[in-house]
Amino acid sequence: MDKLRTRFGELFGEEVSAQRYFCPGRVNLIGEHIDYLGGLVMPAAISLGITALILPTKSSKVRIHSTDFNETIAFNLDSLPTVKQKYWSDFILGVLLHLKQQEIELGGCDILIDSNLPKGSGLSSSAALEVLCYFMFHSVFAGTEPDRTQMALDCQQIENEFVGLNCGIMDQFAVANGKENHAIVLNCNSLEHEFVPLELGEHSLLIINSNKPRTLAESAYNQRRKECDEALKIISSHRQVKNLIEATLDDLKLISDPTLKKRTRHAITEQLRVQDSATALQFGDLIAFGKLMNKSHASLRDDYEVSCPELDFIVEELKSNPACLGARMTGAGFGGCCIALVDGSSIQRITQSLSETYKIQFKISPSFYGCKPSCGVHRIT
Ligand code: GLA
Repeated sequence: MDKLRTRFGELFGEEVSAQRYFCPGRVNLIGEHIDYLGGLVMPAAISLGITALILPTKSSKVRIHSTDFNETIAFNLDSLPTVKQKYWSDFILGVLLHLKQQEIELGGCDILIDSNLPKGSGLSSSAALEVLCYFMFHSVFAGTEPDRTQMALDCQQIENEFVGLNCGIMDQFAVANGKENHAIVLNCNSLEHEFVPLELGEHSLLIINSNKPRTLAESAYNQRRKECDEALKIISSHRQVKNLIEATLDDLKLISDPTLKKRTRHAITEQLRVQDSATALQFGDLIAFGKLMNKSHASLRDDYEVSCPELDFIVEELKSNPACLGARMTGAGFGGCCIALVDGSSIQRITQSLSETYKIQFKISPSFYGCKPSCGVHRIT
């Protein structure tokens, strides 16, 4: 009997027939802060993620225990709170409310949630929890797996409208649709996507967690979106553009505000970098891809201004190491994780040296994880 099942039994009594579900986190290889502008992004689901055990009961209560918070919370399906509680369970509450509205006949259940995905680190722990619960409730109570694209859209809507972060579609889409050993090239406007094999040969993708909490992330994120809306308004008063991503470098001259100009320049150049990265990866040109990662980071730091000293330090340290082909922050920024393309045989040396220099500089240690592109949310039988 595995530990999680044993814990489920201790908490809720019966455990044998509990079903198990898993949702991965994601890294974004390139294409940052352009999903909500209708841009192209290149995320991959990863093997770190959130596991849940669920057992339907005869009551009208949904009881959820989180091993991370070591806490059990309960909702009564007949009287679900309709506003967020500013609590970790908001993502689950949002999903329950949404599915109820869709007239899915939810029933009582006991749930145990366990995660090896660091929270609030730019690896999509929120999207993973939403998509996991959506997929699991739909499978258990409607008796079928949901449509994965619709599920991603619904979870994005829950995050936008119920939780209050104006995020794009990338995270929910990636954790719903990931494919083993592949990155997803996703057009966030049309949701058309293709899978690019991630053949890295002797290289590996390394995830470095700065362990800097992302305190500012939410307000600054929504602020960036507002700035992009303003820039779009200016450009579209001169010519027809629906999304900021359709702007060209030539349009920059229409914008006089220096901040809005920088935000727009990031959007345009980042989109070009994603296109070039997809080509580089298709041809196995890792050197070219590494250079694009470095440029992406510089643009996020200087033009979009969503990096922070910790992330910049990690990227600079890695770039100065010949065993690293490229490095950049991944996710919303203001803390969280970087991703680096490194020579697999040097990982031990790279992580050791970065740990030492980073600790001297910031008095905290970074954490490291391997990055293996994995499949999206699924039931484990
Ligand atoms: C967060 C959001 C995504 C995306 C990234 C930045 O992860 O949830 O929609 O905007 O930031 O690329």
